[in-house]
Amino acid sequence: MGDQLSGDTILGIETSCDETAVAVVERGTLVRSSVVSSQVEQHARYGGVVPEVAGRAHVQQLVPVLAEALATAGIEGTDVEAVAATTGPGLVGSLLVGVSSAKALSLVWGVPFVSVNHLEAHLYASFLEEPDLEMPLVVLLVSGGHTMLVLMEGHGRYRLLGSTLDDAAGEAYDKVARYLGLGYPGGPAIDALSVDGDPTAFDYPRAMVQENPDTLPDDRRYAFSFSGLKTAVVNHVRNEPDAPTADVAASFQAAVVDALVTKARWAVEATGAVGACLGGGVAANSLLRERFAAMCDGAGVRAFVPSRAMCTDNAAMVAAAGWWRLQSDGPSPLDVGADPNLSLPLLD
Ligand code: KG4
Ligand code: ZN
Repeated sequence: MGDQLSGDTILGIETSCDETAVAVVERGTLVRSSVVSSQVEQHARYGGVVPEVAGRAHVQQLVPVLAEALATAGIEGTDVEAVAATTGPGLVGSLLVGVSSAKALSLVWGVPFVSVNHLEAHLYASFLEEPDLEMPLVVLLVSGGHTMLVLMEGHGRYRLLGSTLDDAAGEAYDKVARYLGLGYPGGPAIDALSVDGDPTAFDYPRAMVQENPDTLPDDRRYAFSFSGLKTAVVNHVRNEPDAPTADVAASFQAAVVDALVTKARWAVEATGAVGACLGGGVAANSLLRERFAAMCDGAGVRAFVPSRAMCTDNAAMVAAAGWWRLQSDGPSPLDVGADPNLSLPLLD
């Protein structure tokens, strides 16, 4: 089957946090396989990701996940034309498993190695499913570790409009869920429980969200803050232990989504972007997906909301971002290491 491929067959590897994932993608768009092995059950009993457990699980899972990704794509390792891996940001012990394996495979197969920034990979999840997305594009990137509004002016050309001053949106979901006894990961649990709750039951704070964005200082306009919201929920439940958990969850979720969607709308209006898209694990959230699409409709711009599987961590998005990076920058040197604090490369 290998000789039917059009070339540019990239193997992506993602091990930055608690998902071991390998995918085969062609020309940054056609997903031939995307295998994700989640470690959720191993971390759930600790209430969050334990780095040591994550690193060991990646070591155990990577080879079987790789074999399955190749088999599902119907190719041999020797058909692979480049190997892309997430080099950061993330947990260093986890990143190292994927990065070292990717370098070894690139040497064995004699193909380029491509270093991929995990945040850029989340941005490219949209391009996987909609290769012709027009730019400039406002991207709301909301994950467990990051919350940012980015203006994407072209491939690899990003301007940071704003980011969170404290907790990431996913982190707030996970912390509130933990406090409410809903387990880990908290996002999907709060999302599901909110269906039975009243989002207007409790009026939790929306930080730096007001009628007129111009009344906010420039460096606060597109900034987010979720730690005050988390504290407000915790204090409220402490003072009113009988408050229905579904109402608390739904009201918390309404506050998070209000802040995210309002600032995304301001960004769309102020930048003249032709479209807007979502990325990152929190983009799997039902209310956010619905409200974001409605906001874009109202603003008269194209909305793109990737499928849920492409929002949460996966390797297809890594392969896609890797393919674009390979076109623009060529192969990465093999001495590029894992960088837990890697940030999105921004325009000046
Ligand atoms: O992008 P991701 O898979 O990993 C990181 O790069 O961080 O995001 C994980 C985050 C977790 O905080 C998880 O609770 C959140 O995404 N999440 C959700 C939903 N599904 C995952 N948050 C809200 N609603 C969801 N349905
Ligand atoms: Zn992620």
